[in-house]
Amino acid sequence: MNTLQKTILVTGGAGYIGSVLVDQLLDRGYLVRVIDSLKFGDRGLRGYVGIPGFEFIKGDITSSDSLAPALNGVDSVVHLAAIVGDPACKKYPEAAVRTNKEGSELLYLMALEQKVRRFIFASTCSNYGKMPDPDGYVDETSPLAPVSLYAELKVDFEQHLLATRHDNMTSVCLRFATAHGMSPRPRFDLTVNEFTRDLVLGKRLEIYGEQFWRPYCHTQDLSRAIIMAMEADNDIVAYQAFNVGSTEENYKKGTLVEIILGELPEMREKVHYVERTEDPRDYRVDFSKIKNNLGFDAKMKVIDGVREYIDAIRNGIIEDPESNQYSNI
Ligand SMILES: NC(=O)c1ccc[n+]([C@@H]2O[C@H](COP(=O)([O-])OP(=O)(O)OC[C@H]3O[C@@H](n4cnc5c(N)ncnc54)[C@H](O)[C@@H]3O)[C@@H](O)[C@H]2O)c1
Repeated sequence: MNTLQKTILVTGGAGYIGSVLVDQLLDRGYLVRVIDSLKFGDRGLRGYVGIPGFEFIKGDITSSDSLAPALNGVDSVVHLAAIVGDPACKKYPEAAVRTNKEGSELLYLMALEQKVRRFIFASTCSNYGKMPDPDGYVDETSPLAPVSLYAELKVDFEQHLLATRHDNMTSVCLRFATAHGMSPRPRFDLTVNEFTRDLVLGKRLEIYGEQFWRPYCHTQDLSRAIIMAMEADNDIVAYQAFNVGSTEENYKKGTLVEIILGELPEMREKVHYVERTEDPRDYRVDFSKIKNNLGFDAKMKVIDGVREYIDAIRNGIIEDPESNQYSNI
């Protein structure tokens, strides 16, 4: 396909996943426009300034004045901007509703008016909450049981997108596994990255609820999946939700720690397990739909993300890994 003439708007493109996606889109020959309020600084985008085809608008998705120029001439929107994660939404509930609900709705309506072809929404596997069968899997047909404001807002907007059909613009909801792996804007408030950082730094690590399941997916793979969903024919993706990840990459927290200790065996005594028998979130996810319908296969594993962070921290590429700029909380 000829990607050269197409402009893709990435909301939240300065963030952890967005700044990896921008690189992949530019690589494929797209014109990439990012709108971001730079809540966590500009580090994620510094590498793209001056690259032909890249354009940045510092703005807020809750403002129509910011969105109007951002949406001009856009083929597809990838909507990543949000207050991200359960803790951040709990701490800043008003901002979460304003951005994740009101901002998303405004963006969607203005994208419709601008005749955008496809609207990709970054949703989350957190929507599943606690799986009904602790020995089973959840898939896209399973009930959604959000247990946080973050997931409630994701489920609400998803339901709106999946139920509202238009001739011009088709929507796709991507339920991401928990991300790991390197990015121009690293995040250390995510399990794999945080555990790896703490053990590289030789810190005491307390693990709560080692027996609960979560799926994980590398930032590079999440970005590839977004592009596949954006480029796929309508009859494959329109008004559908897809889990994004790999069925083999579901782990209990305790297994994650063992993977990291495999790379840092001298840190075993730093790990302390704290018993917790109840966790509102426990989900092991089936990712067959995206594999069968879109041909998506994750290329990276948790071990790859762990090795990237060990190298980056040891080599000083991330100078001050405990800095607040790498956390959303
Ligand atoms: N990281 C994960 O594990 C994960 C898992 C599931 C879903 N997701 C979803 O993927 C998306 C990206 O997540 P991330 O990890 O890259 O988060 P992130 O916090 O690193 O990036 C979000 C970006 O959005 C920007 N932003 C926030 N509010 C804004 C506003 N009102 N206007 C403009 N920009 C704004 C921030 O400045 C930031 O750069 C989010 O929608 C998130 O819910 C992430």
